[in-house]
Amino acid sequence: MSKVEHTPRVFSGIKPSGGLTLGNYLGAIKRWVDMQGPDFETTYCVVDLHAITVWQDPADLRHATRETAAAMLASGINPDTSTLFNQSQVPAHAELGWIFNCVARVGWMNRMTQFKDKAGKNAEKVSLGLYAYPSLMAADILVHHATHVPVGEDQKQHVELTRDIAAKFNHDYKVDFFPMTEPVIEGPATRVMNLRDGSKKMSKSGESDMERINMTDDAATIAKKFKKARTDPEALPDNLEALKGRVEARNLVDIYAGLSDTTPEAVITEYAGAGWGRFKPALADLAVAKLAPISDEMSRLMDDPAEIDRLLAKGAERAEAVAQPILEKTYDIVGLVRSRK
Ligand code: TYM
Repeated sequence: MSKVEHTPRVFSGIKPSGGLTLGNYLGAIKRWVDMQGPDFETTYCVVDLHAITVWQDPADLRHATRETAAAMLASGINPDTSTLFNQSQVPAHAELGWIFNCVARVGWMNRMTQFKDKAGKNAEKVSLGLYAYPSLMAADILVHHATHVPVGEDQKQHVELTRDIAAKFNHDYKVDFFPMTEPVIEGPATRVMNLRDGSKKMSKSGESDMERINMTDDAATIAKKFKKARTDPEALPDNLEALKGRVEARNLVDIYAGLSDTTPEAVITEYAGAGWGRFKPALADLAVAKLAPISDEMSRLMDDPAEIDRLLAKGAERAEAVAQPILEKTYDIVGLVRSRK
């Protein structure tokens, strides 16, 4: 079969499992906004089927799905130019996920570090869905024949697995059907760290609220969290090299660079010699200036959930128009009989 020519297509997703953090914003959403434009077709998904790989209260899940969509819209995802939808409304994702469960190898899944971290010592008790999670993620990407996947550093291994699945499928069925997807992990804040422990990633599910900035935190809370963020006693140096080993300090510099659309080098030049008493309040002011308009807009959007649902439905129809033909072609390649009209 001849190679399918693909329009460069961006796909990325985010789980509606609890509130969103500054890590989600800087590592993903903000970069998705920036990728909108003439160079790419952009598709962004609220991955509700991934969220239920761990227990979600149904009412909380519905709320988080709408709130995640609201965060994307409020951050600047344009629902007219980007396709924005929730995964469960486009069944082709789950269907291709099953095909990929039959392509991916158990040994590959056993190497997934995120599964190992999440399952911990409890691997026998977690859901089968959590284990198969990366295969559904590969289906999300490949059912859109996406070529570029902007994600934070923590998702790199999953995008690499997506390439392995595409290659094995193409090889086994002697086709050149699924593209080799590129992970796009760029910018100063692809791994935002926990504010209380710079060796851990900032995440929605960490134990203490003080270790993360939530996209919905108010100004006083943001200021308090940065003020209490762990650092070291030294002032900021005048070059990045000198920040080696000072993980907490480096994290705050990276956050500043991400929020202000500049580089860590530029930040360190501007704040060379500054102590935390100067840098932390400046960082808090910057975060408030960037996040407050977004959280205001999120709450305005959340006052009208029917409108969010309408946008998600419209996006799902557009996503299905891309995904369904790719799924059907896959079924034909695999040899599944499709005789229903
Ligand atoms: P999720 O919901 O955990 O995170 C969504 C996005 O936010 C990024 N991110 C971070 N970036 C920088 N620093 C952090 N501390 C931080 N925390 C989270 C993540 O890297 C991600 O880009 N498996 C995915 C969701 C998914 C997906 C997909 C992504 C499902 N299907 C297809 C891309 C393509 C996840 O759990 O993201």
